[in-house]
Amino acid sequence: MPAYSASAPGKVILFGEHAVVYGRPAIAVPVSQVRAKAIVIAEPRSPRGLVRIIAPDVGLETSLANLPEDHPLAVVIQKAIAVMHISHIPACSIQITSTIPIAGGLGSGAAVSVATLRALSALLGRPLSNEQISDLVYQAELIYHGTPSGIDNTVITYAKPIYFVKGKPIEILQVKKPFTLVIGDTGIKSPTSLAVGDVRSAWESDHQRFEQLFEAAGVIATHGRKAIEGGKVETLGPLMNENHDLLQQMGVSSPELDSLVEAARSAGAMGAKLSGAGRGGSMIALAAPEAASTVTTALLNAGAVGTIVTEVSKT
Ligand code: PMV
Repeated sequence: MPAYSASAPGKVILFGEHAVVYGRPAIAVPVSQVRAKAIVIAEPRSPRGLVRIIAPDVGLETSLANLPEDHPLAVVIQKAIAVMHISHIPACSIQITSTIPIAGGLGSGAAVSVATLRALSALLGRPLSNEQISDLVYQAELIYHGTPSGIDNTVITYAKPIYFVKGKPIEILQVKKPFTLVIGDTGIKSPTSLAVGDVRSAWESDHQRFEQLFEAAGVIATHGRKAIEGGKVETLGPLMNENHDLLQQMGVSSPELDSLVEAARSAGAMGAKLSGAGRGGSMIALAAPEAASTVTTALLNAGAVGTIVTEVSKT
């Protein structure tokens, strides 16, 4: 049987989460050590139109027809069919696996959607452009995130470091000098929509203060961009620390995130911050390559349930 497979990386936000929802710039990088993978296999002997979906990581074994209408996979697949001008999908099975922690701020949902769309569009012989894939995944994110900025679907689709402003064309960053990040997972599942919703309520009740916080985060992202493009890795650490401080003031850090951030800094990281929506999920630390294992050990000792060392490569 013809089989088509595709994969997509995880991601971390280096600068500007939350503020990016309010139009400020942010920077995100792919994390290729963790990936979502989809394999689509044509099943010509199955009943006509039966699209089986098998995702053992989340205990899902069903058919497309039986998925709730607002399930992100149902949304992306149905919208993709419309974009591809196809009346129905031939009988097939879609097997989905992922090594990206779920609800951990690493973009697992978006990566699953990207991989699925790529594999499915290959089976259908209608490859979708990156722009189309990113846009379709954004539509699914709308359901779960409420007011997503679009940064997750963009960085995961393009699998390149990006400088992102909501509603503006994507800008791929030129990385002059590689740098190493250590990611620490608090193990606390944190739905993005909750933290984003709380920030919105806080912004509504104290507009001026939150606008100032978002503005400051945006300035950090623009400085971060200059540092990355200029190969000035040493200036990224202090910028990450400042960004974490702002995220604390936005109310999206947590004792667990703060203690991992502290542990990384004490172990010699050049800077550290929470990454993504916050409250739980993951934090990131900038470390010299030779210090990555010390920082990793410190994070595990401080309660991280998982760590990933990733290099942001020169582009
Ligand atoms: O999906 P997460 O947890 O990495 O968070 C996304 C980043 C936010 O800025 C908090 C939300 C958004 O849509 O940009």
